[in-house]
Amino acid sequence: MNKQLYYEAADELLQNPNVRRMKEFPHHNSSNTLAHSIHVAAVAGKIASKMNLRVHEKELARGCILHDYYLYNTQEMEYSAYRHGTRHAGLALKNASREYELTEIEKDMIYSHMWPLNLTHLPHYKESLLIVIADKYCAVREFMHMAPDVNIDFMEENFKKI
Ligand SMILES: [Fe+2]
Ligand SMILES: [Fe+2]
Repeated sequence: MNKQLYYEAADELLQNPNVRRMKEFPHHNSSNTLAHSIHVAAVAGKIASKMNLRVHEKELARGCILHDYYLYNTQEMEYSAYRHGTRHAGLALKNASREYELTEIEKDMIYSHMWPLNLTHLPHYKESLLIVIADKYCAVREFMHMAPDVNIDFMEENFKKI
């Protein structure tokens, strides 16, 4: 796993003011969608690195940063948490596709990250499976107000900026 490539791909997206808007939206009690997305990227990258997986670094990083790009405040929504859970992956994909040229892996990561809640949105790539796992792990920690336990080495600079 080329961490430099991974960091650079995430960093490039994080420079975008629209991506940074995700900071406005609270997420999982103790976080916001931007901090959560970076957390997910750090965890997914760590799993890939520890397991010595051959992954597409750039796509893994970009899929993680954009997976919750749905751009609304869940605390102000009129529909249920379940409805949000089932619809936001599709919405994030729509929003991200409008602004970025996404690869098939990136699209699959965003669309399937809520699997198995969205039972038919099957993950088709290992990068998608990584985000399925990392997203749930991070969500649990955030709901429980636990700080990230990842060594956010290559993400550190971005965390500082937020
Ligand atoms: Fe999500
Ligand atoms: Fe998420």
